[in-house]
Amino acid sequence: MSDKVVLAYSGGLDTSVAIKWLKEKYNLDIIAVTIDVGNERDFSATRQKALDVGAIKAVVIDAKETFVNHFLFPALQADAIYEGQYPLATALSRPLMAKLLVDTALEEEASVVAHGCTGKGNDQVRFEVSINALAPDLKIIAPAREWGMTREETISYAQRHGIPIPITVASPYSIDENLWGKSIECGVLEDPWAEPPEEIFTWTKSPDKAPDKPCYVEIGFEEGIPVSIDGQELGGVSLIQRLNELAGGHGVGRVDHVENRLVGIKSREIYEAPAATVLLQAHQALQAMTLSKDQLRFKQKVAAEYADLIYNGLWFTSLHRDLGACVKSSQRFVTGTVRLKLFKGSSTIVGRKSPFSLYSYALATYDKGDQFDQSASPGFIHIWGLPVRNQAQAQLLGETEGPLSIVAPKEPEEG
Ligand code: ARG
Repeated sequence: MSDKVVLAYSGGLDTSVAIKWLKEKYNLDIIAVTIDVGNERDFSATRQKALDVGAIKAVVIDAKETFVNHFLFPALQADAIYEGQYPLATALSRPLMAKLLVDTALEEEASVVAHGCTGKGNDQVRFEVSINALAPDLKIIAPAREWGMTREETISYAQRHGIPIPITVASPYSIDENLWGKSIECGVLEDPWAEPPEEIFTWTKSPDKAPDKPCYVEIGFEEGIPVSIDGQELGGVSLIQRLNELAGGHGVGRVDHVENRLVGIKSREIYEAPAATVLLQAHQALQAMTLSKDQLRFKQKVAAEYADLIYNGLWFTSLHRDLGACVKSSQRFVTGTVRLKLFKGSSTIVGRKSPFSLYSYALATYDKGDQFDQSASPGFIHIWGLPVRNQAQAQLLGETEGPLSIVAPKEPEEG
């Protein structure tokens, strides 16, 4: 009896070829696992294709709920955005996939796990670091990293072996999709000066074709988790799907990012992430109102760490647990409603309210009802400015360079 391998199967060219290749090269029996993280495809056709190509078993796992509740919403609460631009859709899906692959391997008594990543990307790292953490004894094979075939060679391998070639192969782009967004790279996008062609966008309307009338949407949050749209309560999966359609329809959520990969390469990737964009923006607006200044400052540091950790494949670590605990604690009062205006590619916060708001009209107003004691300000300024005055007198006054030395430009003399 041959050994078994659990293969992360997308239904695309590489993982289909991998089914044949793993059998040929390693004489392994293939169990194809396809994980539904909201990538909206015909999963029964994908499953059938795996069997047709030669897998002994093919399973589809609906992981959407788990993905939302254990990955996307915690990342939203953390405000995790890589390098200020990428909401981490692909990166967040990998540790969940790794976990499901490992679970299947243990159930099926397979000794090997395989994935379709190449040797240049982040995803190989995320998969393998995660699989090794969860099941150190499982062997990992990455066929596309090993076989050394070019794209043309892979296609002709598929032809020789009667593997149906998906129509998407005609497309030069590499695409990954899940509920949190679509990642698109390769082809003309590899020229960072080239404007992305309109054809790559399938989740977002072109802003100039978007409706001429703005759309207003209200998102309700409880402890940092979105629970309603326009007053209607929705489960996480439906809420994200609804926002992807709504915001995407107004051209919101396109990102063009030259990012720093973990393996040292800079790469240009285009993202479409309408729901993620709107939710992250709304969440931050609600926090601005319900967290203190110091909490917000600290949370921004945590957010950057948290985003790096996800990007860099470190989901299954104690650092994650520690940061997660901090984030969760910070969300206790992040409850309320945010109102946004979606219009031709932009989404703008136009209102926010919370039962736990720290915004005080009586303190902020310049109208009557003002409760801020302005007579206390001179004393405050005296103390606040004390070290500045002290340093200026002891060291800086009279210096010819530096911030105190700037002189007003002179009028040019006549003559
Ligand atoms: N650059 C993104 C990341 O590292 C997405 C990777 C997958 N992209 C793709 N087009 N297949 O998470």
